[in-house]
Amino acid sequence: MGVQAQVTNPKIKIERVSKLFGPDPQAALPLLDTAATKAEIMEKTGNVVGLRNVSLEIAGGSIFVVMGLSGSGKSTLIRHINRLIEPTAGRILVDDTDVVSLAENALRDLRLHRVSMVFQNFGLLPNKSVLDNVALGLRFAGTGNSQARELAMQQIERVGLKGFEKQYPRQLSGGMQQRVGLARALATNAEILLMDEAFSALDPLIRHDMQAQLLELQSDLNKTIVFITHDLDEALRIGDRIAILNDGSLSQCGTGEEILLHPADDYVKRFVQNVDRGRIITVAAAARPVATTTSAEISSDKIAPLVAAEGAQTVFIVNDAGQPTGVIPITSVEHHAGAEDSFWHDPKNVLPVKSVSPDTILADALSDVAESEAPVAVVDEQGRLLGAVSRQSALLAMAGTNGPSEDMV
Ligand SMILES: Nc1ncnc2c1ncn2[C@@H]1O[C@H](COP(=O)(O)OP(=O)(O)OP(=O)(O)O)[C@@H](O)[C@H]1O
Ligand SMILES: [Mg+2]
Repeated sequence: MGVQAQVTNPKIKIERVSKLFGPDPQAALPLLDTAATKAEIMEKTGNVVGLRNVSLEIAGGSIFVVMGLSGSGKSTLIRHINRLIEPTAGRILVDDTDVVSLAENALRDLRLHRVSMVFQNFGLLPNKSVLDNVALGLRFAGTGNSQARELAMQQIERVGLKGFEKQYPRQLSGGMQQRVGLARALATNAEILLMDEAFSALDPLIRHDMQAQLLELQSDLNKTIVFITHDLDEALRIGDRIAILNDGSLSQCGTGEEILLHPADDYVKRFVQNVDRGRIITVAAAARPVATTTSAEISSDKIAPLVAAEGAQTVFIVNDAGQPTGVIPITSVEHHAGAEDSFWHDPKNVLPVKSVSPDTILADALSDVAESEAPVAVVDEQGRLLGAVSRQSALLAMAGTNGPSEDMV
């Protein structure tokens, strides 16, 4: 747990990258491996810690979000990927190319064709039309004028700005200007998009639209996107994985759910405390173990001790395939303690099963959990019982105080 930075198909690898700004970065470097804080290193050496031994891998075709307080090193990190910044130590690999060792031509090629960047304040040229702004990167890359315009037009359509191509940036709203910036980054056809707080200047509704548009584009284009944001809701909405930086160090890297459920330290905890957990957490995280019995085995003699010994509130009846067929609440066991075995075989005397798959968002399962008399069964693709979500376990998961996860429903 904690910093989980490895993935199966990395497109970008950051290997123990450190960056110090100041008079003598090399001299200050050894201090990064000590307990000295960023402030102490500054005081002692006059060097500012930008990044500190950061290692992470970014999967191809994913949206990777970088978060952290102002000054935590987000821009410094992302700018290493196209070598706008050179590391003091460490390696950056893009498709296994060592970016730091690239000669000038190869670096130019990387920036023009393989990695493009979308800036926070759109970075548009005011005296050029939308079309010319979008075609700019292509023109730099040596594409002929008419072909550049044609490719630019395709991207303008893609971001929904057809009809605005002859306008100038000042004639567009902020959201539209941001889409021009996005179209420009898309036009070069680079596989990697770096987006440094690209949506931060937009008002909330337009921002929400842009997030949706980015997700839609991404499902089409399958780029590798590195996206910086201050906004946790934005990070959770668009990020496949999220990295959280603190004073240049990587505090945690994982899926939104991992970070919410298992924040690595107090810094991460403070980041996630105000989030709407129900929208992120899956049923799997709220599921608890269940006591089971097979239909053949049900009898009062068997159920009562099972419930007593394991502290379960309910017993699920499962068939030979492991699929739940009914639920017996403990109250019913107590009430019908002396009942004939046949009593339990009568479907009228057991509760019906409601089931959900483990990857269901908890918020989407809540009405089932609330309405169902018995805990809701969590089942795999074959319908086999994995666990169950009770009202209590759902509430605890939402509140972020899961309690002992071995407690049965
Ligand atoms: N060119 C530079 N010269 C000196 N220090 C720098 C330089 N660039 C960044 N820093 C320092 O490195 C640290 C990380 O800065 P960075 O810009 O990466 O932060 P950030 O997380 O992007 O912050 P923000 O959210 O404000 O954009 C900060 O302490 C900053 O002062
Ligand atoms: Mg920044």
